[in-house]
Amino acid sequence: MRIAVFGTGAVGRALARGLAARGHGVAVGTRSPGDPAVRERLADLPGVCVTTHRNAAKTAELAIFAIRFDGLNAVAREIADSLPDGTTLIDASDPERQGPDGRPVLAVGHTDSGAEVLQRLVPGAHVVKALNTVNAKDMVEPSFPDGPPTLLVCGDHLPAVEQTIALCRELGWSDILNLGGLKHARLTEALGVMWVYSALAAGSWDVAFRLLRRPEGVPQTE
Ligand SMILES: NC(=O)c1ccc[n+]([C@@H]2O[C@H](COP(=O)([O-])OP(=O)(O)OC[C@H]3O[C@@H](n4cnc5c(N)ncnc54)[C@H](OP(=O)(O)O)[C@@H]3O)[C@@H](O)[C@H]2O)c1
Repeated sequence: MRIAVFGTGAVGRALARGLAARGHGVAVGTRSPGDPAVRERLADLPGVCVTTHRNAAKTAELAIFAIRFDGLNAVAREIADSLPDGTTLIDASDPERQGPDGRPVLAVGHTDSGAEVLQRLVPGAHVVKALNTVNAKDMVEPSFPDGPPTLLVCGDHLPAVEQTIALCRELGWSDILNLGGLKHARLTEALGVMWVYSALAAGSWDVAFRLLRRPEGVPQTE
């Protein structure tokens, strides 16, 4: 599949690498495709094309949004008229800004989410929120001794959600929960910020969330 990955940060690079390794044609979008620093950041991604957001969007069969909240508006406007209508747009980003103590806080929430802002700016796409609650390095083949972390997914267009789940399975995710409509991103984005606070409190970035389930019929111990 031809996949556009918007963003050259840790998330964009991890996903581009994982997707290219699975045989997908990956175009990474950036503001500065000719910038030697950007090219160097992506030099260890063989077969991945580095181009403008607009060019990456044009031929995409699926797209992933991995942009800082500062850039959401500008990048969304750039891809809005070039991403083919009906394309699934996986939003792996979190609407974070720096809080007064230097830690991240949500820039939108409660009544809106970054994913819903993105959906309004790119109305022809089907935005699906996913992958935003884990460290970039665990977005592909997440592996923890206690079992797989849980991937929370939500979106308003079921076929796009199903396409996202299938792609995430290909990337090595096994425990995936579809929460329902895109408005649930208001909650998963808060969990994305919560993940940072949890990692800081735990003193390790090697942490991830997992939903524990009690099998039916197994009595709760007193
Ligand atoms: N890092 C993680 O472990 C992690 C985990 C979960 C979710 N997230 C979320 O995923 C998103 C990407 O994370 P990241 O760590 O990969 O981010 P990042 O390195 O901070 O930024 C990603 C890209 O955003 C673009 N960007 C930044 N400011 C911009 C602006 N003003 N206008 C246009 N583009 C701009 C840059 O692209 P160019 O410079 O190439 O144009 C940059 O490469 C963020 O929303 C983050 O909160 C991150």
